[in-house]
Amino acid sequence: MMWTLPDHDAECDCPMTDPFLALPSTDYKRSFINAVHEFIDEGRWQGWKPYLLESEFDSYVENVRLMETEPPAGFVPQTTFWLIVDGEYAGRASVRHWLNESLEQFGGHIGYEVRPSMRRKGYGTLMCALAIVEARKLGISRILITCDDTNIGSQKIIEANGGVLQDTIDVDNGRPGLTRRYWIEMPE
Ligand SMILES: CC(C)(COP(=O)(O)OP(=O)(O)OC[C@H]1O[C@@H](n2cnc3c(N)ncnc32)[C@H](O)[C@@H]1OP(=O)(O)O)[C@@H](O)C(=O)NCCC(=O)NCCS
Repeated sequence: MMWTLPDHDAECDCPMTDPFLALPSTDYKRSFINAVHEFIDEGRWQGWKPYLLESEFDSYVENVRLMETEPPAGFVPQTTFWLIVDGEYAGRASVRHWLNESLEQFGGHIGYEVRPSMRRKGYGTLMCALAIVEARKLGISRILITCDDTNIGSQKIIEANGGVLQDTIDVDNGRPGLTRRYWIEMPE
């Protein structure tokens, strides 16, 4: 592993050393857009087009941040964090403040992705660990994380972070295959 987990508890506001989770910020515009091109190349990106990000990055960041306080109808509040490695955007973790019926089936409290060029270096596992700390700060002590039954990398990440498999279900969400639901119990 290239990193060690910070000795960080839910009450502590001490700064973390690199890599760390940051709130979305225009400071990371260039590396974020580079990462978007990587996601597009693997067919994953469904967000703003790169030319719009180039011209309206401030608005994009504001939109992502507003999901925390003014989510659209039908969405629960969600705080998005960016994993910063050596000053560059490496991935995203989103923490949903509570579950609705849909998230109970698929999505859970925490979703994450690591940009393709930074994968298989332990950052997914680290980012999930840091997102769990953030979820705990929001008062969530039982954390649901779901993943595709075929997503070995995500399963390893969740299990390395203490996830206990509840079940594997067939969710009607337009995606092929089954969904695994894991729970992580944090001390109250
Ligand atoms: C899944 C994902 C987050 C993994 O990120 P990552 O930074 O590569 O994860 P890590 O480096 O921490 O790897 C964790 C473990 O999974 C393994 N792993 C990672 N990707 C893997 C893959 N494609 N196939 C098999 N194993 C994989 C790693 O080798 C590591 O194993 P180890 O703990 O035995 O050493 C990343 O591939 C990704 O963003 N995928 C697309 C989005 C996604 O699937 N998000 C999760 C939705 S639930």
